Amino acid sequence: MMSERVFISHSEQDTRNFGVEFAKSLHAGMTILLFGDLGTGKTVFVRGVCEVLGISGVRSPSFTLINEYKSPSGLYIIHSDLYRLDNEGVYALGLEEYVDERDCVLFVEWPERWENPPANSTKIFFTALNENEREIRIVSLKQEADA
Ligand SMILES: Nc1ncnc2c1ncn2[C@@H]1O[C@H](COP(=O)(O)OP(=O)(O)OP(=O)(O)O)[C@@H](O)[C@H]1O
Ligand SMILES: [Mg+2]
Repeated sequence: MMSERVFISHSEQDTRNFGVEFAKSLHAGMTILLFGDLGTGKTVFVRGVCEVLGISGVRSPSFTLINEYKSPSGLYIIHSDLYRLDNEGVYALGLEEYVDERDCVLFVEWPERWENPPANSTKIFFTALNENEREIRIVSLKQEADA
C-alpha cells in the first residue's frame, strides 16, 4: 500500500521541524530518496532529522559525496549527494553496502543519478514555491502490518 503526505513549509525552521517529525517514523534499514532542485531544503531536512537523534553539525555532502554520522543510540546516518556523479561514480560510491543494514539509515540527495535504488525506498519530493516556501511530499510504501 502506498501512502502520501504533503506539507507546506514556510521557513527553513519549518523544514527542519518537519525533519524532526519525520524522524519518529524512521527505522534502521530504511533508504530515503530526496528529490528536488538545488536549494529546496533537502539538506536542511536531514539536519532536522539528525538533530532529534542527537547528531549536530550536519553539513552538505555536495562535495564530500557521502557523510556518515553515528547517533548516541548507535544508529548510523549515511547522508549522500549524487549531484556531481554519473552512473559509474554512484556505483563506485558503494551505497548498496548501506542498504538494509540493521543499524543504518541512508538519505540520498539527487537520487536520479542512482540507476537502481531499493524498490522499497521512501521518496520525498521538495519543490520551491517561492523564496521561503517549499512543498514537501512524502511517498512511502506501507507494509501490510501497519497499513
Ligand atoms: N522553507 C524553507 N525550507 C528549507 N530551506 C529554505 C526554506 N526557505 C528558504 N530556505 C533556504 O533554502 C536553502 C536550502 O538549502 P539546502 O542546502 O537544504 O538545499 P538542498 O535542497 O540540499 O540543495 P542542494 O541540491 O544544492 O544540496 C537554505 O539556504 C535555506 O535557508
Ligand atoms: Mg543538499
